[in-house]
Amino acid sequence: MQQAETRRYAVVAIVLHWAIALGVLAMIPFGWWMSEIIREPETQAHGAAAFQLHKSIGLSILALSFARLLWRLLNPPPPLPANMTGTERALALGVHIGFYVVMIALPLSGWIYVSAGFDAEGRPLVVPTYWFGLFQAPHLPIAGADEAVRRPVAQAAMSAHSALAWGAIGLAALHAAGALKHQFVNKDGVLGRMVPGAPEEGGLPPSSPARRIGLGVGLGAVALTAAALTMAALTPPARSQLPPAATTATAAVPTAAAATATPAQDGRAPQAWRLDPAASSIRFSGASAGTAFNGSFSRFEADIVFSPNALGRSRVRVRIDTTAIVMADAMQASTLRRQEWFDTANHDDAEFEAETFRALGGDRYEATGSLKVKGRLIPVTLPFTLTIADGVAAMTGETRIDRIAAGLGLTSDPNAQWVSRDIVVTIQVQATAAS
Ligand code: HEM
Repeated sequence: MQQAETRRYAVVAIVLHWAIALGVLAMIPFGWWMSEIIREPETQAHGAAAFQLHKSIGLSILALSFARLLWRLLNPPPPLPANMTGTERALALGVHIGFYVVMIALPLSGWIYVSAGFDAEGRPLVVPTYWFGLFQAPHLPIAGADEAVRRPVAQAAMSAHSALAWGAIGLAALHAAGALKHQFVNKDGVLGRMVPGAPEEGGLPPSSPARRIGLGVGLGAVALTAAALTMAALTPPARSQLPPAATTATAAVPTAAAATATPAQDGRAPQAWRLDPAASSIRFSGASAGTAFNGSFSRFEADIVFSPNALGRSRVRVRIDTTAIVMADAMQASTLRRQEWFDTANHDDAEFEAETFRALGGDRYEATGSLKVKGRLIPVTLPFTLTIADGVAAMTGETRIDRIAAGLGLTSDPNAQWVSRDIVVTIQVQATAAS
């Protein structure tokens, strides 16, 4: 038995092999698909959520690939069948090394790309990554480099990301061809070393019960995770799940979307709320040339369905009239309406959609969602406090918007030398239960 087990791959190696193989193969069409849907206005919200999922799965694949490499270095694989020629051995080795390069370089290039803060066309784009909506994944140190370095690095990283995806397809084709040749031409049972249940090389004695249980649990977990992630990826945009016009009132929210996890179906219908515009406000503040400024939006509308006991199905969508900027200095207000800022001649609104809510304890909550400004989606996390009494809800929250990521003021001050990059947005909402 000892000898038989050393001619098999260990359970850990098999489980990691299938988890990574499935992940990489699924992520390629997923990457192409999300890059398409993010461009269409009606699918952008789903696109932003898909990007977060892509990055979360990709970072997980990177971690699993390092684990697989470490495992392999510590536990040499079973030897190749004796009847393989030198060329076949060299080809197999080359494909395996190629796979390790791809497994690490492909997700790493994606991570470098998002850390560099520019899109593939060289436009500034800073989007935090929320790992499955649970925590914010760090950016790589390139994020702190000079713009002159980050821009070309982002472009090179995305070219590499694309090319490595094609490399993965080529390697997978060679790898599958080799496995099929072993199975049907050489008939040496090599497939059975990695595919549980397939006949094994040299008619090995049955696996031990512990090995069978380990494989069942490990591969079952891989299959369940794959099914859950597929459902998460295909869940339609939260936007379309909003019930029609539960409430219409006022409120503009310059915050943006994190587009993260899909809603938990907790079975209870959340309460619809009617905004009280007179008791609600959306304010912003920052600094310009060292002097503080602040302002507000005087018109906004909101569709709100929210209940603390039905967070999974709660949704808030706010449409802000960007022409309705109010500032003490009218010159500043008119500057903000100009093309490089809110471009109100072509985009008279901004839209915040909160898709995921989290209870933080007591009367504190956190909303994550996306802010669409001038057609560009940025993720936003908004912590807030909420009290509900006698059918009246009072909410206050504050978040920071990265104006560069939102595409605001990129011509006159793209490096935030004059106007602060972080704009603090304070939201106060009062609403009454709609029914
Ligand atoms: C094994 C893991 C991964 C695979 C197989 C994969 C595959 C792909 C593919 C095929 C594309 C489309 C490229 C194109 O349009 O030519 C793509 C795009 C993208 N990937 Fe990945 N990826 C992986 C990991 C990651 C990771 C870890 C990140 C970031 C943390 C990431 C970030 C992105 C981004 C942001 C795009 C879209 C680029 C754009 O359209 O602007 N990917 N990925």
